Amino acid sequence: MLSTRLQFIYEQLEPGFDVWDLCCDHGYLGIVAFKSKKFQQVHFVDQAAHLVEALRARWATEADTHFYPCTAEAIDVPLTGNVVIAGVGGQKITEILLGLQSKGHLKARRLVLVPHKDEEAFEHWLELWVGQWIGQWIEQPTEHSTESRLQDSFVGFRLDQRLSVKEGPRVRRVFVLNSINDSRVV
Ligand SMILES: C[S@@+](CC[C@H](N)C(=O)[O-])C[C@H]1O[C@@H](n2cnc3c(N)ncnc32)[C@H](O)[C@@H]1O
Repeated sequence: MLSTRLQFIYEQLEPGFDVWDLCCDHGYLGIVAFKSKKFQQVHFVDQAAHLVEALRARWATEADTHFYPCTAEAIDVPLTGNVVIAGVGGQKITEILLGLQSKGHLKARRLVLVPHKDEEAFEHWLELWVGQWIGQWIEQPTEHSTESRLQDSFVGFRLDQRLSVKEGPRVRRVFVLNSINDSRVV
């Protein structure tokens, strides 16, 4: 059974898609997610390799589970579906998002972000981040060659919900962002 906080986070996930549990620790959220059979692939990520290897040893025989004993920033495949980052500081969450974004791997439909400190600064950063345009070079085939041009795209997420959940004496902020798939070419 999940804690009240993790259950609340779980309820924010969009069924039918992948779940990426970044900074998963013992993986409680991801375990409930794959047992529910409501999601596609479930990905466990934590920099504490022994925790991820313990999860792998216990659950790797389950179809649709994947294990990454590395920092979340180091993941080198696209993250799709639901991406959860909970239980680390706001600054760490920004580092993870920017690291993934810089590699073009942030392909999620939904981000569920639950900082455990610096919540106010993090909310401010989120507001700025979702309002940003980012440039990236894309390859464009022409008749005889391939040209590169700069495509300017919106960060691609809308900050849809600012929720909170109690955890003992503390109130945890829960930010839910959805993909808007908006882009423009300059
Ligand atoms: C307090 S636990 C949070 C567990 C769970 N997400 C939750 O909210 O209950 C924090 C976890 O984040 C992991 N962690 C911290 N920085 C990380 C990073 N950059 N990449 C992956 N894992 C990280 C730690 O190893 C630890 O297991």
